[in-house]
Amino acid sequence: MRVIISGAGIAGSTAAYFLATAGRHIDVTVLEKAPRLLAHGQNVDIEDQAIDVIKKMGLMEQVRRYNTTEEGTQFISPNGRPFAPFPVTGAGGPTSELEILRGDLALITYEVTKVLPNVHFRFGTTIKRVFSSKQDGDELDRVELSDGETESFDALVAADGQWSKTRSMCFPESAVSVVDMGVYAAYFTVPKTANDNKYWNLYQALDSKIIGTRPDPHGTTRAMFTCVPRNAAQKKSWEDIKRADRLTQEKHIAK
Ligand SMILES: *[C@@H]1O[C@H](CO)[C@@H](O)[C@H](O)[C@H]1NC(C)=O
Repeated sequence: MRVIISGAGIAGSTAAYFLATAGRHIDVTVLEKAPRLLAHGQNVDIEDQAIDVIKKMGLMEQVRRYNTTEEGTQFISPNGRPFAPFPVTGAGGPTSELEILRGDLALITYEVTKVLPNVHFRFGTTIKRVFSSKQDGDELDRVELSDGETESFDALVAADGQWSKTRSMCFPESAVSVVDMGVYAAYFTVPKTANDNKYWNLYQALDSKIIGTRPDPHGTTRAMFTCVPRNAAQKKSWEDIKRADRLTQEKHIAK
């Protein structure tokens, strides 16, 4: 059996791991658009079934090592005073018992999967076209890749995220909608200062803006900024910078 997975993120590597170790011979190809693994991103909660999955992959110790060690969530008043703390021991709080950065988890799951003999990662490669053998498009036949090759596969897994291009190739447009909640978010890494603590600090400003900082295990601080545009002109400026270069985006967010 041959399976092709689109996307070498947490989901792609994890799916490849379980298929490749499932007992019968399954040959897995994982495609990644980026030229190398994108170990970016911020907090992911590891809870419930995710704990079982991490344990089955034998990765609990490694994941623990990358615990962001966040102790809870608290709000910050306009004069800089913390209030309303939700420590990690409190049930149902925003900070989980185990928080890890998306990039760290992506790297951990990739490393344990890439050494399997029947898994092949191909970077800088995407799916160009999907051919199905039946009229209703139900049965996968061949997949044309961006490197010009066309190969046969028995199954295709779309693990290429919220804006998955693979989904759009396989399902009607009506089944692939993304609901716009009107929120724009920027995530970034900033130097750690002496004032930074082990909490997720959230400041809710006027004009539907939120600024937050959180600890990470790399000696830096993770920051986030979210905003809900309040009129059409503001919305347009955010839509424009979504497609702009990085410097323009940074300037816009700083402003
Ligand atoms: C992760 O770190 C936090 C903060 O130190 C701690 O409360 C939590 O128990 C740790 N999680 C695990 C699974 O060790």
